[in-house]
Amino acid sequence: MKIMVINGPNLNMLGKREPEHYGTDTLESIEQALTGKGKALGCELIFFQSNHEGGIIDFIQEKTGAADGILINPGALTHYGYSLHDALADAGLPVVEVHLSDIQAREEWRKISVISDVVIKQISGLKTKSYLLGLEALAEYIRSQKKK
Ligand code: DQA
Repeated sequence: MKIMVINGPNLNMLGKREPEHYGTDTLESIEQALTGKGKALGCELIFFQSNHEGGIIDFIQEKTGAADGILINPGALTHYGYSLHDALADAGLPVVEVHLSDIQAREEWRKISVISDVVIKQISGLKTKSYLLGLEALAEYIRSQKKK
């Protein structure tokens, strides 16, 4: 199975960026950990990061036909990215939303996810583990849907 792994704005700065919220792992090391997990789960991962909402939408539109699901940390687009919401809805693929920090325990504006109605699950606050558990949940969901 093929999974898009998408990271939004500022996540290219992980490692140096507000470690008290996001931990010290770099995006590269998170992607490496996901590749290992993906192998164990039988998933091929297609990684993408962009600081631009339009770039993420182009990627989703381009890859939708060739993928079974989407694992996404939309960064701050989580809270206002309506075009991203619509692109995820249009893709019609199962989506798992992940966050390194606990978005429910931070500023009021971070508590709202505008994509929450188009995702099958949100995992937040577990740093790199959010991604690993998110991939596991997504692979399990896709597998269960294929059996039907
Ligand atoms: C984040 C939380 C967002 O509020 C923030 O804008 C990010 C990262 C997280 O992973 O905790 O860029 O999605």
